Amino acid sequence: MRDAMHGAVRLTDYAPAPWNVETVELTFALDPHATRVTARIRFRPNPAAAPGQGLWLDGEHLELVSASIDGAPVQPDVTTEGLSLPAAALPAEGFTWEAVTEIDPAENTSLDGLYMSNGMYCTQCEAQGFRKITYYPDRPDVMARFRVRIEGPQRVKLSNGNPVGAGEGWAEWEDPWPKPSYLFALVAGDLISHDDSFTTASGREVALKIYVRPGDEDRCAYAMDALKRSMEWDERAYGREYDLDLFMIVAVDDFNMGAMENKGLNIFNSKYVLASPDTATDRDYELIEGIIAHEYFHNWTGNRITCRDWFQLCLKEGLTVFRDQCFSADQRSEPVKRIADVLMLRARQFREDAGPLAHPVRPTEYVEINNFYTATVYEKGAEVIRMLRLLVGDALYRQALDLYFERHDGQACTIEDWLKVFEDATGRDLAQFALWYSQAGTPRLRARTDWAEGVLTLTLSQEVPPTPGQPQKAPMVIPVATGFLAPDGSDAAPAQVLELTQAEQVFTFEMPEQPVVSLLRGFSAPVILEMARSPQERAFLIAHDSDPFNRWEAARTLATDTALAMAADPELSADEGLVSALVALAADGSLDPAFRALALTLPSREALAQESYQRGTQADPDAIERALTELATAVAQGGADVFADLYARYETPGAYSPEAGDAARRALRATALGYITRLDPRGIAAGTLFGAATNMTESLSALGLLVREDAPSATAALATFYDRWQADRLVIDKWFTLQAMTSPSGVALERVQQLAGHGDFEWKNPNRFRALIGGFAANPTAFHRADGAGYRFVADWLLKLDPINPQTTARMAGCFETWARYEPGRQALIRAELERMAAVPTLSKNTREIVERILGS
Ligand code: BES
Ligand code: ZN
Repeated sequence: MRDAMHGAVRLTDYAPAPWNVETVELTFALDPHATRVTARIRFRPNPAAAPGQGLWLDGEHLELVSASIDGAPVQPDVTTEGLSLPAAALPAEGFTWEAVTEIDPAENTSLDGLYMSNGMYCTQCEAQGFRKITYYPDRPDVMARFRVRIEGPQRVKLSNGNPVGAGEGWAEWEDPWPKPSYLFALVAGDLISHDDSFTTASGREVALKIYVRPGDEDRCAYAMDALKRSMEWDERAYGREYDLDLFMIVAVDDFNMGAMENKGLNIFNSKYVLASPDTATDRDYELIEGIIAHEYFHNWTGNRITCRDWFQLCLKEGLTVFRDQCFSADQRSEPVKRIADVLMLRARQFREDAGPLAHPVRPTEYVEINNFYTATVYEKGAEVIRMLRLLVGDALYRQALDLYFERHDGQACTIEDWLKVFEDATGRDLAQFALWYSQAGTPRLRARTDWAEGVLTLTLSQEVPPTPGQPQKAPMVIPVATGFLAPDGSDAAPAQVLELTQAEQVFTFEMPEQPVVSLLRGFSAPVILEMARSPQERAFLIAHDSDPFNRWEAARTLATDTALAMAADPELSADEGLVSALVALAADGSLDPAFRALALTLPSREALAQESYQRGTQADPDAIERALTELATAVAQGGADVFADLYARYETPGAYSPEAGDAARRALRATALGYITRLDPRGIAAGTLFGAATNMTESLSALGLLVREDAPSATAALATFYDRWQADRLVIDKWFTLQAMTSPSGVALERVQQLAGHGDFEWKNPNRFRALIGGFAANPTAFHRADGAGYRFVADWLLKLDPINPQTTARMAGCFETWARYEPGRQALIRAELERMAAVPTLSKNTREIVERILGS
């Protein structure tokens, strides 16, 4: 198998670059179809590499106009992937390479390299986009100082670092910090900036600028505020100050990803910058805060210390995700943030780890590196660091990080370097812990308790399932945060972190009374916990666990058990204990409204399909949908009075504020309305809220309920919403997503087919494509229609997008990774679509790798 695997890059093949780069001088003469790039690069032999090697420079889609070495013209050997010169052509002590290349940014639809968006020039160079700009050793372990000159009529012309000169039609920039090419950025356009400043702990003044298209400047305030809070947080939590006089953010409408941490010049998908109360939801504000922080935090964890090669991606991404999670937890509610992160981890990473695309946090081979910016690298990568911190403690964690920055500043590092600072700072041997980086698959943690004569025996065992290419696994280090509850619900003993290192281990505790054990508190390890408990015991934990995560988890598990039992047996009705436990949580005014909203949210259709498969049963999307609807209706009936009361009392007074307290009230109120609407299929209450809403959060949640119920007023409400917002790209994205994701399965496909013909379906824009096609693939009952029409629709669109934007196509093809969960009929239908895609000879390398890996196991 695996045509795509020919040409795979392997971790074990790493070799240092033969030539280092000292300085790079770039001149851009901007032109939509013929931008000229002149590069002057000073090369020096790398003392760490074997001497006497030739020169290889990566380069793709470039037209080479001229090339010289130390001023003398040369004729390199040019292929579609780069160019080379033999050692004999190179002065051994170093030389200056100069080349002129021509590129066509207006035709660059891949949004990788230099491209255009709404007339503005913009770059995206991670992971390998710089090679589409000029010939260069485009690898992260080659770090150099850049000087950039931009020529063009645009009002604003930006690059990394500090401005060093500008005049009519030109601007020059210099970045004093050596950096890999993937952090290079250039922006030019008629933009407007929203300005502010920040004074660092050591008293340096940093100018802050957010550049946007004219008209968007009044939607930057929240992003700016989040940036200043991020700068302050990194000083306080990690002792890290910003290191240039200027920090810039640019918002762009056409962007494959969320955002990018280019040195001093972050580039953002505009949806993660622009916000106003009437156009952005509470969730949008939260995401903006988190992503601004994430990209800012990369300045130290990614930019000052970068990756030796792309296999080490988790070195910067796992760590930076962990840092942004902690930041958001500090800004808002820690337990609520933890629950949200675990929900995401399970939905994306556990899903990936259980299927054909499973790979270790540090992969060992890839065909297309862009396919490895995955939930495993990011989110499991962050979990691994969270476990490290728990095992060594907060103080030693901070000491290890101090050592990391001190020892490795300015370097391109590996996971070995990272673990070594922890070993040196703590004296711990991390050899077994390192398995978290090399073994794929979500470990199963099994727990059994026994109590007799004042002694509690806790038996823990672990098993790591086989994954592609890894049939056998060794036991891992699993930190299990454990609490003990007395029969009256109080803590019977202090909580402790148990370390499971063997396949099976027995722990004993002296306990005069039989406690209820609360395991894996705060989700202390990314594992699947299997423990037989009675519904009564779960209800006890829901009522009493002093760990808020496990309190939520108990409710979640009970709801999952109930829903899956109902899906398997249509005669079964909703468990009374669950309904009353949820209603009691809803009514408990001492609990954070955001926590209550999460606890009241039943597991999604997708989560139930995944759980079902995890428990060894094929998932039936229609049965799951039916069970979930019945269960939600039962909760709505059991809690009708409470929900009505919450809805009446949790209005948010005063002007809209995105801050956590108000957002929590809106979340709880929307959850209550969700239940109220279960018993009100005409959507009277939701329609009233839709009419009265003064912010996007309420407007969209009301509209979602009308669409979910297919209420008589839904069509008119959708039209009203469209008319009001048709000029606003980000809001129209929401309008597409909502219909694709929320429409009932009977009508969803027909609607999205219609919407795909709508004049506003600009499918070449990744946000718009994801809104409609991705939204539909995230509507499980519709996507998994038994006749396969949902699969066909999505595959058709992926095939249409692939030639113009392989990165986004490949990423979205992951919607097929779960085929093995379903019954043979659906399996065959999904595989047929994948085979149809694989049979297209011109399919991109990106999409081919994903499709073939999904088919391959
Ligand atoms: N470095 C990445 C952006 C990136 C990803 C570039 C893939 C090239 C290929 C950036 O720091 C990042 O991780 N962005 C995330 C958002 C973040 C909050 C997790 C993204 O874009 O999804
Ligand atoms: Zn990142």
